[in-house]
Amino acid sequence: MKNFYITTPIYYVNDSPHIGHAYTSLCCDYIARFKTLDGFNVRFLTGTDEHGQKVENAAKFKKILPNEFVDKVSENFLKLTKILNLSNTDFIRTTQLRHIKSCENLWNKLFDNGHIYLDKYSGWYSIRDEAYYQQNELINGKAPTGAEVEWVEEPSYFFNLSKWQDKLLKLYEDNNSFILPRSRRNEVLSFVKGGLKDLSISRTSFSWGIKVPNDTKHIMYVWLDALTNYITYSGFGSNEKNFKDNWPADLHIVGKDILRFHAVYWPAFLMAADLPLPKRVFAHGWWTNEGEKISKSLGNVIDPIQLVNQYGLDQVRYFLLREVTFGNDGDFSKSQLIQRINSELANNLGNLVQRVISFCLKNTMGKVPDHNNKFKNVDFEIINSYESELLSLRKLIDNQKLDESLKEIWLKISRSNKYIDDQAPWNLKKNDTERMNTVLYCLLESIRQIGILIQPVMPESSSKILDIFGLSVDERKFERLETQLKVGKDLIKQKVIFPRIESR
Ligand code: MSP
Repeated sequence: MKNFYITTPIYYVNDSPHIGHAYTSLCCDYIARFKTLDGFNVRFLTGTDEHGQKVENAAKFKKILPNEFVDKVSENFLKLTKILNLSNTDFIRTTQLRHIKSCENLWNKLFDNGHIYLDKYSGWYSIRDEAYYQQNELINGKAPTGAEVEWVEEPSYFFNLSKWQDKLLKLYEDNNSFILPRSRRNEVLSFVKGGLKDLSISRTSFSWGIKVPNDTKHIMYVWLDALTNYITYSGFGSNEKNFKDNWPADLHIVGKDILRFHAVYWPAFLMAADLPLPKRVFAHGWWTNEGEKISKSLGNVIDPIQLVNQYGLDQVRYFLLREVTFGNDGDFSKSQLIQRINSELANNLGNLVQRVISFCLKNTMGKVPDHNNKFKNVDFEIINSYESELLSLRKLIDNQKLDESLKEIWLKISRSNKYIDDQAPWNLKKNDTERMNTVLYCLLESIRQIGILIQPVMPESSSKILDIFGLSVDERKFERLETQLKVGKDLIKQKVIFPRIESR
């Protein structure tokens, strides 16, 4: 079995989960589920980033100790993984012992390899971004992200990032899909070409973090700590055999705001520690809310849990993945969400299933009818297209064209809708029941295939569709797309799968 390892960023626990967190996680879940159904041994990691000044301040603000605070907030993120029905295979917390050991191990490697030195940092720091900024990067006294910055002067260990410029450029050149999408790759490229400064990787002015080995006045810079989570899960520093088998990651999915950390610092750290590099970093865009930037001060933060409660989980999953070209920014609009639910889910897909199943319940005694082996070319087009569809979906998923993969499946749904209208089984019922049965067989077969293909995006709804045919877990895998429905099998009626939403 081939391995596939995918990660979300680990989320800061300074605040409650919002749509941005949900989005990154859902994109990964979609890919992870696809790969699992396609026969891969998938590892899918998510979790929480619990150290640093931002989290320490949030705990202070709540007047509780940081460790109590992170336990509480991390729990909300863990709950979100259940609410979103994520198929993650672990949930890492940077306060766990396994992670602390892994960080110490990485630090020691970097130190022993001669890439860390002690000096003093004086410069700008943004707590919100947990990032250092150069004077010339500031815009009106703020970080380019709009975050406040403060002047910091403290003893600090440095990582010799400036020495890695050529190696990084070579990496991007040799593997031109290491960073995707292209536009983001170009941004990183010009950043690195502009020259890299050594990176401060320890702090001394606060204490909420992992202590630097052999110099416990220092704590590790939260990004060095956080990025290491990806190798902690693979067994770095605790199980060398596991680590060999389970690293590198195939895909890190991140938001565009944190690409630099993943595409510049992370590969540099790994190269410096003589460790293999992840195969790809993909940066997705940001959501706005009804055209406006999402921010706490504007009070327009979207709560993913509320959204799920109001519209249904699979509906929200489908919408978020389908609405934007993966990699671009997107706008969240309620009317657009309702529009997609009603037209693409309730009408195109839900009605197709409902119409065919009700018709069979009335006219084929609720069983899969006999096709009599009298297929015409139009029938073969419907029942044999899964092979080329699967090939095309694989390609799209491997290139992170998530929205396009859904478009592709919905084309299949449209073709089935056209087929039912063209073949009009309700007319055949009057004068050619044999042909009617063949047509219904093909429609059921197409619904089975659609049910299998939509599992990654809508795990619960697809399950209801596949339950109609009483399929076992094994029969739902992609490799079983070719196993056609057995004639005479009972069809099990289901409730409406996608209720329409009345817009107010
Ligand atoms: N803790 C770091 C990541 C460390 S990974 C080694 C972090 N955490 S975060 O909680 O602030 O952000 C997590 C993710 O949410 C990022 O990928 C970010 O891009 C994403 N989003 C935050 N707001 C968003 C939107 N409005 N829209 C889409 N995604 C956004 O960064």
